[in-house]
Amino acid sequence: MIRYMTSVAVALAVLPAAAHQDVALKDLMPKGMVIGVAINQRQFDGADAAAVEIITKQFNQISPENVLKFQPTQPAADRYSFDAADRYVQFGLDRHMEVVGHNLVWHSQTGAWVFQGADGKPADRDTLLARMRDHIRTVVGRYKGKIHGWDVVNEAIDEDGSMRQSPWQVGIGDDYVAKAFEFAHDADPDAELYYNDFNLEKPAKRAGVIKLVRDLQARKLRIDGIGNQAHWRLETPAIDEIEQALVDLHGTGLKVMYSELDINLLPNTPRGADPATANPYASGLPDEIQQQLARRYADVFGVFLKHRDAVTRVTFWGLSDADSWLNRGRMNYPLLWDRRRQPKPAFSAVVEALKHAR
Ligand code: XIL
Repeated sequence: MIRYMTSVAVALAVLPAAAHQDVALKDLMPKGMVIGVAINQRQFDGADAAAVEIITKQFNQISPENVLKFQPTQPAADRYSFDAADRYVQFGLDRHMEVVGHNLVWHSQTGAWVFQGADGKPADRDTLLARMRDHIRTVVGRYKGKIHGWDVVNEAIDEDGSMRQSPWQVGIGDDYVAKAFEFAHDADPDAELYYNDFNLEKPAKRAGVIKLVRDLQARKLRIDGIGNQAHWRLETPAIDEIEQALVDLHGTGLKVMYSELDINLLPNTPRGADPATANPYASGLPDEIQQQLARRYADVFGVFLKHRDAVTRVTFWGLSDADSWLNRGRMNYPLLWDRRRQPKPAFSAVVEALKHAR
């Protein structure tokens, strides 16, 4: 299977991406699998018209890159802010897309006030649970019937498989995850609920996630899916590690979603590293790497399609290379559209993989 997908990618290396201009990814997806993209404010506000056109044509699902996180939706204890989030949700509803919520409980992008108690001490369990419940009720309740599914808890497991010592975990205890799922289900009984994390191809971390999921299931809490962020690289994780992770995660009985897919082409270099090393493609991506990226996308879609009964969603973390969080002052090329919003060979590779699977 993997060898077959690779040969498809090699064959299409000669095919210009323009040949696929009129094709829409969403029309090629197998039944039961949606394809989406994380969108930013300039996109859901319509300011970035070129991006809006591609998003509308190509995708049937959206995720909010930042706008539904704790900090932007509740910047202070007594203040919620939904203007931008409302526009995000409406963008998807107007286009009949599946609208995902990301995320309710995380250690990051959450105001420091959330974790503070009286006298500068950390907030106690009851205070934290009350804040969590209020936040989840308010945010999930507002979009009841509009948001299809929520990343309820993000990144709760450490690399060794133990519970991450996040401020939520330290203040409440391990059952904070169960509480979050309970509150989310109370706020919208019809919404799908997901657990989301990264590096799930690493066996120790994956085992921790599966243990956590099984604990939620043993408590008879609603959980529908596991989001595998899929922030990957060209060579790692290996395709068979990706496939093994998929099979193991699906072994819980849950749907598997690739919730934040991108392929990082830049090296992990220390701060202050020599620019030629840290930012090797500052003046463009060599064609050879461009083709490797296309093959990589063909390979990962080959796995998703082989396991189409397990995988219900694939979401790219950003539309074009210009939009990606992976640039951070460097030039990265992790997505299917380039900085001029032209489809890359990687786009054609995905199209071909989807066509061959039909
Ligand atoms: C990232 C956004 O893309 C950035 O714009 C922001 O500055 C930081 O967060 N895992 C997640 C996402 O679950 O929410 C993160 O998104 C990327 C890593």
